[in-house]
Amino acid sequence: MSALGEPWSTGASRDGEGSLHVAGVDVRALAAEHGTPAYVLDEADLRERARAYRQAFEAAFAAIGAGVDVYYAGKAFLSVAVARWVHAEGLRVDTSTGGELAVALRAGVPGEHVGLHGNNKSDAEIARALAAGVGRIIVDSLPEVERVATAARAAGGAPAPVMVRVTTGVHAGGHEFISTAHEDQKFGLSLAAGEGEADSPAMTALLAAVASPDVELLGIHSHIGSQILDASGFEVAAAKVLALRAELAERTGVLVPEVDLGGGYGIAYLPGEVALDPERVARDVAASVAAAAHELGTPLPRFSIEPGRAIVGPAGLTLYTVGTVKPVRLDDGRVRTYVAVDGGMSDNIRPALYGADYHAELAGRRSTAEPVLARVVGKHCESGDIVVHEVMLPGDVRAGDLLAVAATGAYGRSMASNYNMVPRPPVVAVADGGTRVLVRRETEDDLLALDQG
Ligand code: LLP
Repeated sequence: MSALGEPWSTGASRDGEGSLHVAGVDVRALAAEHGTPAYVLDEADLRERARAYRQAFEAAFAAIGAGVDVYYAGKAFLSVAVARWVHAEGLRVDTSTGGELAVALRAGVPGEHVGLHGNNKSDAEIARALAAGVGRIIVDSLPEVERVATAARAAGGAPAPVMVRVTTGVHAGGHEFISTAHEDQKFGLSLAAGEGEADSPAMTALLAAVASPDVELLGIHSHIGSQILDASGFEVAAAKVLALRAELAERTGVLVPEVDLGGGYGIAYLPGEVALDPERVARDVAASVAAAAHELGTPLPRFSIEPGRAIVGPAGLTLYTVGTVKPVRLDDGRVRTYVAVDGGMSDNIRPALYGADYHAELAGRRSTAEPVLARVVGKHCESGDIVVHEVMLPGDVRAGDLLAVAATGAYGRSMASNYNMVPRPPVVAVADGGTRVLVRRETEDDLLALDQG
C-alpha cells in the first residue's frame, strides 16, 4: 500500500495491483456494491480537517486572548451524518437556507450552535430559525433588520440574535485579492458611504439593529470569497471590520461582542497545489487582528469562521465508470482522448460553471501504457459537459475502467442537478474498511414521483 497524498484524501492509497483504496475500502468492491457514479467520502479525513481547523484557530486566538467558534459551512455539503460528525468535532453549523437548517436540526445539532445566512430569507425561514433557537441570524440588508425584529416580536420570545453582514471591498479567491471601496454584488452591506450619504449601508443597518429592542446585535460578519490561497485578504477585511466595530462603539456606546471572518479557505485540487495551512492562516489572522485591535484601542471580540470547502472538499472523491473512449485530432495535430464517464455536469458542475480544474486517475488497476492527453467528459447532451479539462491518463484507458476524480467533496453533491433526467449519485462514507451510505442513489422512480402526469 502506498499513500497518494494531495489532492487525495489522507485515507487514499494504492494496493499491489494498483487499485485505489480509501480508508481500507477497495474502490472495486465499493463500485460493485454501490454502483457508479458515486461520491466517496473519507470520514476520518473529514473529521480530522474539522478538528485541525478548530484546534488551529482556538490555539492561535487563545494566544492573543480571544475566543473563537468554527462553523462548518453546510452549503459545501450537508447531510445528517456530516452535521453530526462536525458537531462531534466541536464545530457549529452554518446554514444558508431553510433546507440546510432542516438538515442541521434533523441531525440534532442544538439550535444555539446553528447560524442562518441568506441574502433573501423568507418569513418562514426566519420564523423557523427563531423557533429552533438558532444562535445567530446573519442579516443581509437593512429591511431584514426590521423583518427579523418583527418575527421575534411575533414569536414573543427573546430578542433575535443577529449579526450584520458587511462587504469590506476585499474580494479574494484563487491567488489574488482586490480591495475596492464600492461593491456591485448582492451580498452584505457596503462599508462605503455613497455620495451625499452620512452613513455607509453597513453602519445604517448596525445603527438600526442597536436601536431595535427586538434584536440583539451580536456582531459583524464578513465573508470575502472562496478558494482563497493567501491569508492577506482575511487580514485586510478583519482590520476593516474591527474599525467599523470601534466606530459603532464610539457612536452608540455599544461594543459588539463578536466578529465573524467567514469562510473561503482554499484547498488543493491538482497534484502539486498547496492548500492553505490552517495553523499558518490562523496565526497570521490572529496576529493581524490583535495588531488592529491594539491600534484601535478596543478589546478583542469573540471571533468565528465558516470554512466549508476546506473541511469536506479533500475528503471526497467521485468514482466513475469509463464508457466511450474517443480519440479526437486537434487542429495542431495533437490527439486528445475523450474519456466519457457515467456522470458529468449533473454531479460536478464546477468545471462547466467556473472552469474549475480537477485531477483524475485510473482507479481499479495499474497500467504501464504510455500516458495520453485526455479530457474526461460526462454523458450529458452538451459539449461543455466536462469533468476534467486536461489530464494525462494511461493510453489503454478503456470502457469498464474505474476512474476517480479527486477533491470533489465540496460543492459537488450540493450543486448536483438532474439535468437530462440523470439521477444523482449516492454519497458513500468510508471508514475503517467499511462503507455506509449517507445519501442514497436517486432512482428514476424518485424523479418520476415528482411528475404529476
Ligand atoms: N460563509 C459564507 C457566508 C459563505 O458565503 C460561504 C461560501 C462560506 C462561508 C463557505 O466558503 P468555503 O469555505 O466553502 O469557501 N459554489 C462555489 C463556492 C461558493 C461559495 C459561496 N459561499 C464553488 O463551487 O466554488
